[in-house]
Amino acid sequence: MVNQAHDTMLLAASPWWRPAPGAALVVRGGRRLTGNYPISGAKNAVLPLMIAALLTPHLVTLRNVPASLDVAVLSSLLVRAGVGLNWSGDRHSGLSLTLCADHLDPTRMDGDLVGRMRASVLLLGAVLGRCGESHLPMPGGDAIGLRGIDFHIAGLRAMGADVEIAGGIIHAQAPRGLRGAEITLPFPSVGATENLLLAAVLASGTTVITNAAREPEIADLLCCLAAMGARVRGIGSSELTVEGGRSLTGAVHTVMPDRIEAGTIACAAAVTGGEVVLQHARADLLGAAGSTLAAAGVELEAAETGLIARRSRAGLTGTDFRTGPYPGFATDLQAPVMAMLATADGASAVTETIFEQRFRHVDELRKMGAAISVHGRTALVRGVPRLMASRVTATDVRAAAALVLAALGAEGDTVLDGLDHLDRGYDGMADKLVACGALVNRRDA
Ligand code: EPU
Repeated sequence: MVNQAHDTMLLAASPWWRPAPGAALVVRGGRRLTGNYPISGAKNAVLPLMIAALLTPHLVTLRNVPASLDVAVLSSLLVRAGVGLNWSGDRHSGLSLTLCADHLDPTRMDGDLVGRMRASVLLLGAVLGRCGESHLPMPGGDAIGLRGIDFHIAGLRAMGADVEIAGGIIHAQAPRGLRGAEITLPFPSVGATENLLLAAVLASGTTVITNAAREPEIADLLCCLAAMGARVRGIGSSELTVEGGRSLTGAVHTVMPDRIEAGTIACAAAVTGGEVVLQHARADLLGAAGSTLAAAGVELEAAETGLIARRSRAGLTGTDFRTGPYPGFATDLQAPVMAMLATADGASAVTETIFEQRFRHVDELRKMGAAISVHGRTALVRGVPRLMASRVTATDVRAAAALVLAALGAEGDTVLDGLDHLDRGYDGMADKLVACGALVNRRDA
């Protein structure tokens, strides 16, 4: 829960940020969504991009920055570490952020703020590369699984860093600088790939990361690093090569559109029987989720401004899928798609392979009448004709979106608690839904 001292601190670093009015969302079900829904810059791209700006004393400008709570929290964290931030634009026309890390202080990482988001772990590689030392409290993030950082640490050690964890702080040092290394990841971890790329850019020599994650957010990071003067090869592939040792310049980079927000709102359009233009959305970023949505009866049609999403004439049909590293089905879409399948015709088997505890939305969906049973890593969803409104609680960012989606298609007024989770990951989702005809209000819990 965000307290008043936090509010003041967040506002100081992100003037566009407003403390959320009320901690619960009331969603009236049964209204068709129609109209334009602008897809924001991607949450999971912007956070690494903001941290990449720490690699240079020159100005880095990011365009299409989403106005989300995670961005505000990271902004606060960076300001405390001596980074200058300059915002322009506004929430409606789009935010731009210019970062200036000419006075970065590696000893000033606020433990409380670091503990509020997983992406802060990327400060380890970037700050170590830039300053030769990094002292980072253990990162937080959603409670969706163990979320180890052993691959990150092993990779940094291979690049010559001394890394110790003491008193809840990760101390990493490389007084004579990092050196390039050949690193094979045991699993294509998104965070470890990003952390090691950030460390490799200023290391001496060449780093090769094999079995690297291929998520589009990593390609976005690499494009920005290349614009800053880094020499990188293999963008979009599972073998990434970085020739380090060059000092970086500034750059201007536009954050990619959020593929998870796009997939989620496509499901919302289908669930409500509406038709929504997902402005700026790109079908090519959806990976396997694109064909799963098609099989389930969600039509995505290319339009001039993005994609048009609607339910197919045949209606929604139960469909099996399993999450996997990109281009597999994104784990971040698992909960929203499951919420949609809860009222599809027939059964679906949903298997989660990335995180061990990412079925916490199931109990909440059951409260709304969904027929879902969990068997290890697979959830069996039997479609019911409709869900019924209930009081439900979001336990992570994607569970929050899934419950909003379920509520939009349900009968009656659903009350959703745990709204911080929705605010963390989505830029104005409630307002954008209202603009498409939804009846959604925030109120005190
Ligand atoms: N893992 C380890 N050791 C490591 C690193 C990862 O065991 O050192 C394991 C994790 O425990 C997990 C699996 O590997 O079981 C995958 O983790 P990964 O590192 O790929 O995920 P992440 O970097 O922690 C990012 C996104 C997640 C998204 C995943 C997978 C950010 C800030 N987070 O997490 O986004 O689900 O990649 O695509 O980019 C979300 O947005 O809701 C979210 C959780």
